[in-house]
Amino acid sequence: MSTSLIQLSTEEKAAVKEVWVQLLVHKKEWGLRFYERLFALHPHMQSLFKGNVEEQGQKLVNVLTLVASKLDKLELIRQEVKALAERHKQYNVKPEYYLPFINLLLSVLAEAMGDKWTETTDQAMRKIMFVMMEAVIEHMMHSESAYKEAVESARQFLRIAG
Ligand code: HEM
Repeated sequence: MSTSLIQLSTEEKAAVKEVWVQLLVHKKEWGLRFYERLFALHPHMQSLFKGNVEEQGQKLVNVLTLVASKLDKLELIRQEVKALAERHKQYNVKPEYYLPFINLLLSVLAEAMGDKWTETTDQAMRKIMFVMMEAVIEHMMHSESAYKEAVESARQFLRIAG
């Protein structure tokens, strides 16, 4: 299945790295805030988490570390995310949980960054999330038409120009 040819500009790559640095510094606070809100908005998701939620924020930071280090090699990010998607299937995460999760992730990150979250940051982070979603969808959908439809929804949801 063909993936889009999304690229990040130099400014967008710098913006993603800035988000990552900020998160590293405040990982405990924002991780807790994120999961508190996730469980308040989507209580049914809470029972899927068996481990320590405090550590979960660190795990998301680790994913962003990986992403920030591979901005010039988006294909490698796609491969890592496909493996992550397979593990999420084992955690009983349903395909329809991803976009609400990502939406909340973006708004909590924006809040945590305050004035440092610019239009460029927003665009760059939405692009990265789209690349990740494409990989998740590619892993989950087995027909070309289901794949295309799901990618199109993700594109609209994340406001990525087609
Ligand atoms: C951008 C999307 C996501 C990213 C980057 C992400 C990242 C991660 C990472 C790094 C882990 C650690 C374990 C591993 O690597 O397998 C993990 C575990 C987990 N994630 Fe996600 N995740 C995402 C979406 C979701 C969604 C939509 C859900 C649904 C509620 C979810 C639920 C879980 C659960 C239940 C675990 C296992 C943790 C436990 O048992 O305590 N994740 N995730």
